[in-house]
Amino acid sequence: MRTEYCGNIRIIHLKKTVKLCGWVHKVRNFGQFIFIDMRDFTGLVQIIFELKNNIIFKNALNLRNEFCIQISGIVQKREEKNINIKMRTGEIEILASSLNILNISKSLPLNHTNHSNEDSRLKYRYLDLRRFNILENLKIRNKITYLIRTFMTKKHFLDIETPILTKSTPEGARDYLVPSRNHHGKFYALPQSPQLFKQILMIAGIDRYYQIVKCFRDEDLRSDRQPEFTQIDIEVSFMSSDKIRNLTEKLIKKIWFKILNIRLRKFPKISFHESIKRYGSDKPDLRNPIEIIDVHEIFKNKKCTLFFNINSKKNNRIALLCIPGGANLSLKKIDSYTEYVKQYGSKKLFYIKIIQFNVTSKNIRSSMKKILDEKILEKILKKSNAKKDDIIFLIADEEHIVNKSLGMLRLKIGDDLNITQKNTWKPIWIVNFPMFHKDVKGNFSSVHHPFTAIKKMDEKKLRDSPDLAISDSYDLIINGYEIGGGSVRIHDSKIQKKVFDIIGMKKLIQNEKFGFLIEALQYGAPPHAGIALGLDRIVMLLTNSQSIRDVIAFPKTTSAACLMTNSPSISDNLTLQELGIKIIKNKK
Ligand code: AMO
Repeated sequence: MRTEYCGNIRIIHLKKTVKLCGWVHKVRNFGQFIFIDMRDFTGLVQIIFELKNNIIFKNALNLRNEFCIQISGIVQKREEKNINIKMRTGEIEILASSLNILNISKSLPLNHTNHSNEDSRLKYRYLDLRRFNILENLKIRNKITYLIRTFMTKKHFLDIETPILTKSTPEGARDYLVPSRNHHGKFYALPQSPQLFKQILMIAGIDRYYQIVKCFRDEDLRSDRQPEFTQIDIEVSFMSSDKIRNLTEKLIKKIWFKILNIRLRKFPKISFHESIKRYGSDKPDLRNPIEIIDVHEIFKNKKCTLFFNINSKKNNRIALLCIPGGANLSLKKIDSYTEYVKQYGSKKLFYIKIIQFNVTSKNIRSSMKKILDEKILEKILKKSNAKKDDIIFLIADEEHIVNKSLGMLRLKIGDDLNITQKNTWKPIWIVNFPMFHKDVKGNFSSVHHPFTAIKKMDEKKLRDSPDLAISDSYDLIINGYEIGGGSVRIHDSKIQKKVFDIIGMKKLIQNEKFGFLIEALQYGAPPHAGIALGLDRIVMLLTNSQSIRDVIAFPKTTSAACLMTNSPSISDNLTLQELGIKIIKNKK
């Protein structure tokens, strides 16, 4: 039906007759001439219909936006004054010699130039996808998956598919369940990840597995979370965590180089504890150079403890942020930051403004002047490295509150004062996460999934103080986004059972849910380790998109609905009966 694609026609095609298929992007009628921008998935080209060519011209008068058409015509050079340097085909135009309207279009419920609201865009996703920016994102996504596949194949990895109808694979979210017709009253779970299957593949001797795979998690959604998303899932036998990180780093560097022409340097690596201490988060955005600085030692005396109203029975921290150039922040702005940190539990946010070279406890402007004698002041300035024109923000509270509050304030101020260097890439590995999280009732849960190996710890210590156990795990963070996570796995069935015991899983449930894994581990399971990278998040970063919805062809809303197909939807009674399901009306 066509000889060329619209967006590919250039000066070299001059005087050639071409046949194109696509859509009417824009129509302009100048009486003697009708100009249209014609679009296909490669881009736009300008077509002219001349009044001289009466039959076609008459037909062209019917053209409206988004009509699907086929045209033939001769490629001609535009007059100098009409060259459009913003268009890749801007030097030429096509003088139409035939026009075939393949299909008409209703007028669009979306406006490609103005921003339509997101619900309409998702309802008419097929029209939204006609926009070049989303299409461009999908092209980049395709390029990335191609790069991944060639990289992994060269490294001798096997691409192996794992089941979608399966059993629960716990990754910390709720499962999506699928009722079984054949097994009355039973359900499949959609995989939160292929975690257990990839481990079983290692036990099967596969050695190097990867898959670009859909995962399903019923959890609260955000701009970087979807209920179904795609992982680059990797597992290797007989490989240490260092080597896995190296391999991943190479893959990421290759993608960044091929897509953005940027050479990333070696990724730094810090422990979970260090990350929390310095950045108040295990997903630190290192484009922001501000760090949390501990000053507990400086405020040890009773007067200070009283001033800060610290509950000595709790685990407390006194720490600060030194904001370069922040001394001219207004009191109103400082109040707004105080309100901001309140949502993370902080009772108060203290400040010290360094407005002159020789600050003394007398001339300092601060909300904690009462306890700032010369000695304390000198120590604070030394520790924080604060200079003239800086402001210090300090919080004294329970440790987790200080970490979260200063961590979030660091990000907010970094954006507000343009301190965060938006055009840089800052990857970092966070390693050695705690193995377990202890809740207020003293119950343990896994920080990563429960198949994660523990770093050397004797059995007695593990039994007595699981909260001290460190896992052989790693997360890859880029610019504050968790891009991937993985670990060395437990390959000893006894240790696996012990971990299930610690997280309070009854023996019966262990066998019911994970009996197949425990058994498989008993047949010479090799040491193995792996990682999964979030493909959607990688594409989001590389396309500078604000949400992963912009890099997924058919994403869901934040309430996990598909507005185009109207799913989820109710099922008819017969189907429900067959499945043995009765719907109980939600009282709300
Ligand atoms: P984890 O749960 O850390 O690890 O997931 C790996 C990566 O997947 C991405 N991701 C998501 N992306 C979009 N929407 C979501 N809802 C979502 N949830 C996770 C993140 C994350 O870093 N089986 C382990 C991996 C392993 O141990 O090998 C796992 O799934 O980028």
